Amino acid sequence: MVAEESKVEIPASEKLAEIIAEVAGCHKCPLAQTRNKTVPGEGSPTAEIMFVGEGPGRDEDETGRPFVGRAGKFLDELIASLPMRREDVYIANIVKCRPPNNRDPERAEVDQCSDYLTQQIEIIDPLVIVPLGRHALGWFMPELRITQSNGKIFRNNNRVLMPLLHPSSGLRNPEHKRMLQEGIHNLRDAILEGIRIRNEIDQRSRIPIDRKHESPRSAPPADLETAASDTNSESESTVVEQAEAVALAETSPAESSVNLFERPQTRDEIQAELNRQRAIDAAEEAAEGQTEKLVVDDRQASFF
Ligand code: URA
Ligand code: SF4
Repeated sequence: MVAEESKVEIPASEKLAEIIAEVAGCHKCPLAQTRNKTVPGEGSPTAEIMFVGEGPGRDEDETGRPFVGRAGKFLDELIASLPMRREDVYIANIVKCRPPNNRDPERAEVDQCSDYLTQQIEIIDPLVIVPLGRHALGWFMPELRITQSNGKIFRNNNRVLMPLLHPSSGLRNPEHKRMLQEGIHNLRDAILEGIRIRNEIDQRSRIPIDRKHESPRSAPPADLETAASDTNSESESTVVEQAEAVALAETSPAESSVNLFERPQTRDEIQAELNRQRAIDAAEEAAEGQTEKLVVDDRQASFF
């Protein structure tokens, strides 16, 4: 029995709380000397969307909470416009202590601090990460330019990234504001791509390579119409369930060895799936109005 107990997985909320406690006592870099409060991050431990900013500003340093100043209010508006609730996502920063006078964090500070963010990402395991602004994006994918990447969907280390301009830049620049307001709506597609990658990884981990030409899993949903009408019949039906059904239906046993083992998914394949999903969504919305609740795997999340 003791051996059994040792296998029990520590809940994400506890692991995150450990990081918060560690950050609270952290003096690894010089920012510890000038900070008021550490700003470790906050939100749902099972969030499927994670926003990552650069570092705390004055309001955050005073409260210990991320994105609570003017830029934070605008981020709240963007999240609400989906509609989605702030408490269902996770919001963190690259550095957890305020750089004096809001200067950019230095390379050494980022290097010292980013291990906390890496751990947060591993624990939360979100479907989509949204780097906010040039500095956050630079930590994930330094080769990208933020203005050209805003609202676009990238695959990076088996994760989906959808960069957005920093909300504070939207407050200063009306064009950036518009880009943010439009870009955030691409999260829906980013989530679908995140689900697709999760299914792909899940299937890869379950199918022994030497049996790849055999049927990889129990019967997938028979066809897209069935998948759509099944999920349509219940008021609890969800966009992500439908998307999962679509992703699985696409991977029929006959195709799966090709899809999963012999070549990567192409942008065209992903786009074709997204187009199908939009058609299903449009039909559903016409039939019974907006879908509200999403379920991913066993994890509950209300996004849109
Ligand atoms: N800007 C950031 O990058 N992060 C915050 O938490 C607040 C403002
Ligand atoms: Fe520690 Fe990060 Fe704060 Fe530096 S910025 S003291 S590494 S928590």
